[in-house]
Amino acid sequence: MVSTIREFSKETGSIVDLYKSVRARTMQIVSPLEIEDYVIQTADFMSPPRWHIGHTSWFFETLLQAHQPGYKVYSTDYLFYFNSYYEGFGARIERPKRGTKSRPTVRATIVYRNHVDERMLLFLQSLDNLPNAETVLALVRLGLEHEMQHQELLVYDIKHLLCDQFDVAMQPAASSTAKVEGVAEIEGGLMWLGFGSSGVNPPPGGNTSNYDFAFDNEKPAHQVFLKDFAIDKALVSNGEFLEFMRDGGYQNFRWWFSEGWETVNREQWRSPLYWELHDGRWMIRDFSGLHEAESQADYPVSHVSFYEASAFAKWVGKRLPTEAEWERAACYDQERSTVNAFPWGDNPPAIAQANLFENGLWSVAPIGAFPKGVNAYGCQQMIGDVWEWTTSDYVPYPGFKSEFDEYNDKWFVNQKVLRGGSFATPQLHIRSTYRNFFHAHERWMVSGFRCARDV
Ligand SMILES: [Fe+2]
Repeated sequence: MVSTIREFSKETGSIVDLYKSVRARTMQIVSPLEIEDYVIQTADFMSPPRWHIGHTSWFFETLLQAHQPGYKVYSTDYLFYFNSYYEGFGARIERPKRGTKSRPTVRATIVYRNHVDERMLLFLQSLDNLPNAETVLALVRLGLEHEMQHQELLVYDIKHLLCDQFDVAMQPAASSTAKVEGVAEIEGGLMWLGFGSSGVNPPPGGNTSNYDFAFDNEKPAHQVFLKDFAIDKALVSNGEFLEFMRDGGYQNFRWWFSEGWETVNREQWRSPLYWELHDGRWMIRDFSGLHEAESQADYPVSHVSFYEASAFAKWVGKRLPTEAEWERAACYDQERSTVNAFPWGDNPPAIAQANLFENGLWSVAPIGAFPKGVNAYGCQQMIGDVWEWTTSDYVPYPGFKSEFDEYNDKWFVNQKVLRGGSFATPQLHIRSTYRNFFHAHERWMVSGFRCARDV
């Protein structure tokens, strides 16, 4: 029934409410920008903020084109400029050239965005008359999840563009209230992985808004065999990473994969991204300014590549977890023999449980700042703060079926899976089964890690 889909859940209310709130947040994120900031592209991998606000609207315009009878394309130039990588939607500007055009202007892009919103809201109100309303509603939700992905990318891109020059209101820094140390030992065996895994046990509430949707790459639930393993209760900290650096970690080939070692030498890496050496002291720049790395020794290390995470893990005598191990650790409640939706249980994330976008910190929080987000094994901050690198290749699960061409299915090669969300991820957008993916050398996103080992 349409009505059951339309009322996604108590938390999200109607699709119209959800549409309005998600679309508004994108504009809230860019609101401190000056007009000059919107069109600059500081690196091939980032996109100008103006492009994000147009592209997320373009996504909804393709939906209107396909499902709103008589819809007229707003501008073929915009279709070209705001398409990202979809071959199926025609020619588009090359990604590194998004910052080479000053038109459409920011103002024109916002007019376009408002036009799409107007048409979408009318369209949503007429959905009951459509024979394929459920299919269309699923696409609208996909469009909103897509927009939330771009909200997170906007945070990364604005950080790369402006960092501490971005004048955004931030909540006071969080503080650590619990000591988190040691490892959790987790029993292996045959177990379920992926979205719907908890269906083998009592379902995870069924009313958690975050579980009303999943990307196709999280499905289907399937069985994997895991050996017993141990996983760190805490994320790797800046202090621990500094020790690796001081031990010559970036100068010693023995810790690195061959490709990683080549990258270290080619790019002259000596530290994570956003670290700066001032008078022999390592400093970390973030949205709130420049900080002594020592003063943030108990914060999770972030902006590291898969290569750096793997090198550290080898140096410390451990390894990265696989994504199956990570998900098992995050969700399994051994005492109750249930698979939870989240480390803390079945309720969606709250401010006290995980450092996500709504917390408003615009930064990682110290290790031990979220004891209420603890899992059954004592692991903390598995959701929020930093996306955690796993050693798993991003490949389709057995039985995978693409639900939207070119969205996830064409990226199943040469990338690694990251889990758990970051301080830039909206609460509604994250799930324990969420599979993010990046290339092994990338570190402009908020990426960190925790270590694991065999037992
Ligand atoms: Fe996109």
